[in-house]
Amino acid sequence: MDLALHLNLQDTTPLHQQLYEQIRDAILSGRLPPEQRLPASRALAQSLQVSRSTISLSYDRLLSEGYLETRVGSGTFVCAQLPETLLQAGAIASSPSIAPTTIQLSDYGQRLTAQPAWQPEERPEIHFRYGRSDMDLFPLALWRKLQSRHMAANRQWMDYTQDTLGSRPLREAIAQYLARSRAVRCHPDQVLITHGTQQAVQLIAQLLINPGDTIALENPGYVSSRKIFQARGAKVLSIPVDSDGIQIERLEQQCRQSTAPVRLVFVTPSHQFPTGALLPLSRRLQLLTWARQNGALIIEDDYDSEYRYSSRPIPALQGLEAQSPVLYIGTFAKMLFPGLRIGYLVVPEANIQSESPSTNASLSSSQTLIDVFGQARWLSDRHSSLLDQAILTDFITEGHLERHIRRMRLCYARRQRALVNALEEAFGNRVQFLGAAAGLHILVQFDLGLSHEAIHGRARAAGIGLENARLHYSVGAGMDESASEGKFILGYAELDEVAIALGIQRLAAALS
Ligand SMILES: Cc1ncc(COP(=O)(O)O)c(C=O)c1O
Repeated sequence: MDLALHLNLQDTTPLHQQLYEQIRDAILSGRLPPEQRLPASRALAQSLQVSRSTISLSYDRLLSEGYLETRVGSGTFVCAQLPETLLQAGAIASSPSIAPTTIQLSDYGQRLTAQPAWQPEERPEIHFRYGRSDMDLFPLALWRKLQSRHMAANRQWMDYTQDTLGSRPLREAIAQYLARSRAVRCHPDQVLITHGTQQAVQLIAQLLINPGDTIALENPGYVSSRKIFQARGAKVLSIPVDSDGIQIERLEQQCRQSTAPVRLVFVTPSHQFPTGALLPLSRRLQLLTWARQNGALIIEDDYDSEYRYSSRPIPALQGLEAQSPVLYIGTFAKMLFPGLRIGYLVVPEANIQSESPSTNASLSSSQTLIDVFGQARWLSDRHSSLLDQAILTDFITEGHLERHIRRMRLCYARRQRALVNALEEAFGNRVQFLGAAAGLHILVQFDLGLSHEAIHGRARAAGIGLENARLHYSVGAGMDESASEGKFILGYAELDEVAIALGIQRLAAALS
C-alpha cells in the first residue's frame, strides 16, 4: 500500500512526531480506514528515506494510544474498533477551522453558473423519458463477440491513436453509411469522430465563435446547444419555428436587424427539436441561399432521423448541394445507445484564415478547417475509446447497424402508435400532438384547464414522468410563457406497449 506522507526536514518538529501526527490524522479523517494494513516499518523507512527507528517510534506511540494494533505474523493494522474518545477527537480534527476558500471563476465559468444547473433525473414508476433507446433490445451478445475479437487481436486499442480525427476505418464506414442513408456528401477525411453531439457543438463554438458574436437558434430548440453558445458568450437570435420548422423569413428579418453579422445558425431540419417539424425542400434551399449570401455556416443536427415512420428518410440538408456551408452532426446515441458516447461531425472542405497578431493582417493558412477540429479534439480529450471505435466499425461494415435500425424502427413505430392511441382514447380532443412522423418522442399539448405545473405535479404524484418542454422555449423576443403552456415531451422508445397504455391510463386518472 502507498501511504502519502510528507516529512519536512527543515521543520523543528522531530520526524517521528510529524509521522505520528500525519498517520493519526489519516486514521481520524477516514483516509486510513479500520483494518487497513500499514506498510512494514522497513519498507516505509526506505520509501521516506528515514531511519527505521523513526518509524518504530511513531508506530509504537500509535499502538500504545490504541490507533493501531499488531497481528502476529501479519503486520500492523488500523484498529478495527476505534475508541469513542478518539473519534470525537477526529470530528474536531476534521471540522473546518477556516472558512471555505472562494474561487474566482473565469467569464466562461460565470456564464455557466448563470444557467440552470443540471439536475439528476428522478425515476418515476413509468417515465416517458426522452432521449433513450430500448437498451434491452440491443444485441449485446454480438457486441461482446466483436469486443472479444478486437481485444484478442492485438493491444493497439490500449495505446493513444496517431489519428486526431478518429479511427480511419470508422470514418470510412461512417462516410459510406451517410452517403447511403442520408445522402450526405463527404470524404472520410471530412469526418471527425466525437463523443457525441454535445462535443461536436462544443468544438464548433470554441473554434468558430468569439464571445459577443451573433448566432441564430431555433425557438423552441435544443436547450443543450443553446447553453453551449450562451456559456461561450454568444449573442443569440431566437428564430421562431412553425409547423414547417424554422421560419426563414424571420431569420432573414432578424439578421437584417442585427447590428453584427450572424456567424451561424443551428437547425434540426429532419425532425425539429422538440416540435418534430420537417423542414420542406423549399425552406432548405432558402436556408442554404441565405447562408451563402451572408457568409454564415449552418449546423445541421441530424440526431434521430433514421427513425422515420410515415415516409422514406429525407436526404440531409448537407447533401443538397456540393460544398455546402454545412457542419453536419450525427450521433449513435439514438441509433445504438447513449452511453457509447460516439458521434461524428462532418466539416466542410475549407481553408482557414488567421490573423497575424502583430500586423492584424489576414493570412491564409495551409491548414484546413478539419485539421483544426482535429487539433482542438486532441487538445480537449485526445480521442474516443479505440476499442469502441473498432467494435463500431465492424458493427457498421458487417451490416449490423442497418439491420438493428430496421428492427428498432418497426418496434418504435408500434410503441408510438400505442402512445397516440392511448392519448386519443383517454383525452380525445383535449390533447394535441406533434412530430409523430419520426424520432423517438412526440410533443404533446394538453388542454385541460390545468396549469402546466399542476399537470406535471399530478403526473409525478401518480408515478408518471413527463418531460417538460418549457426548457426548450426561449422566452422574450416575441415569445412568452404561454407558448409552452401545457406542452410536454413524451418519449416512448424505452417503454413497451403495456407500460405505455398503463401509463396513459394512470395519467388520465390523475388529471381528471
Ligand atoms: C436535438 C438533439 N440533438 C442531439 C442529441 C444527442 O446528443 P448526444 O449525442 O450528445 O447524446 C439529442 C439527445 O437527446 C437531442 O435531443
